[in-house]
Amino acid sequence: MSEQVIAELEAAGQERLAASMRALPQAARDALSLQVASLDLALVQRLVGELVRSPGDGHAPDLGPAEVDRLPGDGASLARRRLAVEAGEQALRDDRVAVVMLAGGQGTRLGFDHPKGMFPIGPVSNASLFEVHAAGVAATRRRYGCDLPWYLMTSDVNDAETRAFLDEHLMFGLPPDTVLTFAQGMLPAVDPVSGDILRAAPDRLALSPDGHGGLFRAMGHAAILGDLEERGIDVIMTFQVDNPLMRPADPEVIGAHLLARAEMSTMVVAKASPDERMGVMATVDGRAGLVEYSDLPADLEAARDDLGRLTYWAGNTGVHCLDRAFATRLATGQAPLPFHRADKRVPTVDDPHPDAPNAVKFEAFIFDALPLASRTATLEVARAERFAPVKNAEGPDSPATCRAALVDRAARWLESVGVSVPRDTAGASAHAIEIDPRFAQDAHDLVGRVPADLAVDGPLLLRV
Ligand code: UD1
Repeated sequence: MSEQVIAELEAAGQERLAASMRALPQAARDALSLQVASLDLALVQRLVGELVRSPGDGHAPDLGPAEVDRLPGDGASLARRRLAVEAGEQALRDDRVAVVMLAGGQGTRLGFDHPKGMFPIGPVSNASLFEVHAAGVAATRRRYGCDLPWYLMTSDVNDAETRAFLDEHLMFGLPPDTVLTFAQGMLPAVDPVSGDILRAAPDRLALSPDGHGGLFRAMGHAAILGDLEERGIDVIMTFQVDNPLMRPADPEVIGAHLLARAEMSTMVVAKASPDERMGVMATVDGRAGLVEYSDLPADLEAARDDLGRLTYWAGNTGVHCLDRAFATRLATGQAPLPFHRADKRVPTVDDPHPDAPNAVKFEAFIFDALPLASRTATLEVARAERFAPVKNAEGPDSPATCRAALVDRAARWLESVGVSVPRDTAGASAHAIEIDPRFAQDAHDLVGRVPADLAVDGPLLLRV
């Protein structure tokens, strides 16, 4: 087998790795052969050619502000949103919806040595991110009497641990046939100049996940699209593991997507500041698209309209709705996604302690599917209700800011039903408060469920 693999490497322009393999003892050569055999070498060769060995100039796209259903809406927009909620609720009752959680990333910035979904985030309960999302799925299933299959996309870096954690917690009470885990693909890191595939160890390639745009291929390989079709599902809602404020299968977002007859939709929130690390919705060469924060030129990042509002304000929450037929076109390669080049520090056998980017990784982004969709919809939601991700160990987008957002939202919901919440001098709730999604998914759910004289005099957890 290894002779054939080595010949394939040579044919794909990877003579250096081929030569290193020839010099290895048989066992190590076999181990590497297996890993190389699982790669799409034709794809690697194309990416090395296009993004490393002879990168083009990169066409600078023509950018403009996005078209968004904004908050606070006028009367017409409020009526449209009410209709959207009804349409989304009906789609849920009709069992037309599945949710897909993107959880294949390496979570390097958080410095947590496990899958990010295992991170304890509940301000009182310490519930993990996985559990908070599972609770949201359970609440939605119960409310609409639907199956709501929950697909979790992992990758080789965290698949086994994720599965073991879900098993250990008995899928958080969800029926096991509705919680389905599948792994995205992996791609090798390459040398930034030669494009040679790098090794993490003599018998191990330096592999990393192929970006969340790998979702479509992975759904194809894991036969998920067929499974969805069999279940009669035509709306797929995707979200990132790191935001416990998001509501799985949010009827308003699903309904807005359906009423717009969109192939792909995006939920956005207003950016907190021009330099916040969020991708922004925009028009890109005349089509709806998303521009990643690293690609938005500084002058456009700071640009404002005549009223002084940010032009590129519509921050990407990572929540999308996708039409199943559109996802199938993407999975079968009829509408291929582009790949991006990321220069990273990767320990390799050649350069074990790099102090500068010594490798190129290739990643596809789910939102690059937007310009390929025939129709799109973009809906703004209230940030304080729906978005506070956990990205960094400290500072912005950290566990501390996320827990504060969860507590603040719970405090507001309680106050909306007449409960008095003691606040400190900075206006924050004096006590940690947590509302499990199975108890309430919005302020309205609390009506008639909590007495107005409920005492908030210490940490409070409301759960069923
Ligand atoms: C991401 C978005 C950004 C958005 C922000 C909001 C990208 C490229 N950018 O930024 O536009 O405003 O979130 O929070 O997504 N993941 C995989 N497989 C991978 C890589 C990532 O499943 O190969 C998952 C991660 O597990 C995570 C999510 O995708 O759930 C986002 O990835 P992350 O690297 O955290 O993106 P950000 O840079 O934070």
